[in-house]
Amino acid sequence: MKGIILAGGLGTRMLPLTRITNKHLLPVYDKPMIYYPIQTLVNAGIRDILIVTGGHNAGDFLRLLGNGKKDFGLEHINYTYQEGEGGIAEALRLAEFFADQNPICVVLGDNIIEKNINQAVKNFEKQKSGAKILLQEVADPKRFGVPRLDGDKVVEIIEKPEAPPSHYAVIGIYLYDNSVFDIIKTLKPSGRGELEITDVNNAYIGRGSMTYEILDGWWTDAGTFDSLLRASNLVAKTGANNK
Ligand code: DAU
Repeated sequence: MKGIILAGGLGTRMLPLTRITNKHLLPVYDKPMIYYPIQTLVNAGIRDILIVTGGHNAGDFLRLLGNGKKDFGLEHINYTYQEGEGGIAEALRLAEFFADQNPICVVLGDNIIEKNINQAVKNFEKQKSGAKILLQEVADPKRFGVPRLDGDKVVEIIEKPEAPPSHYAVIGIYLYDNSVFDIIKTLKPSGRGELEITDVNNAYIGRGSMTYEILDGWWTDAGTFDSLLRASNLVAKTGANNK
């Protein structure tokens, strides 16, 4: 399985913090934000990693991470560049060549977890095709993609719903087979002008090939002032990416 970290976009929600640096290079407690999703993949045994970046400071990722050897024991990191902020699915589209028919694990560059995704990755390898999402109960589901569940099935995901159909958020870690790139090619921009990852996930649901699991341990994004502070506090308290 190959790993893809989406760290594109312009971080406009977090101005002026993001005026002179990329959101994913901001500190979360004692490390730059991008360290956490890389560690999530490495802990799951995924060592072939592509980072999709963007904005005005893309070169700083290379300065910070190099080939990934020093801080992650990797042999190599791949990089590509997204122009503008056309959405998560648009950023993922840039990974088609890298994926090269393999199953992929996609992690949003601002998503941080307490524990690991090892079991979910193993289960997806057994699943062979389709997709898997990870869920976690949250106090403020309106900020996220929210699933409507029916027993062990997810029947629909609504992006930032006014009336959330459950207390769960779809977290920013997704497992896909190679048909994800064909699905992305069929998408139309949403009301906010983006190719939405929720539309990709709903396409898999429509085909009957989406599974879900509840993530163990805390999860947070770090893409707003409040969640960035929360992320730093959580990492300071328990550490992140614990095995
Ligand atoms: O954090 C989980 C949530 O992430 C999910 O529950 C939502 O369903 C999903 O849409 C997403 O919501 P956000 O509104 O929080 O996504 P945001 O625009 O903040 O982007 C999250 C990351 O995705 C960002 O840190 C980098 C990457 N991204 C985003 C955009 C818009 C890109 O690489 N390129 C982009 O154009």
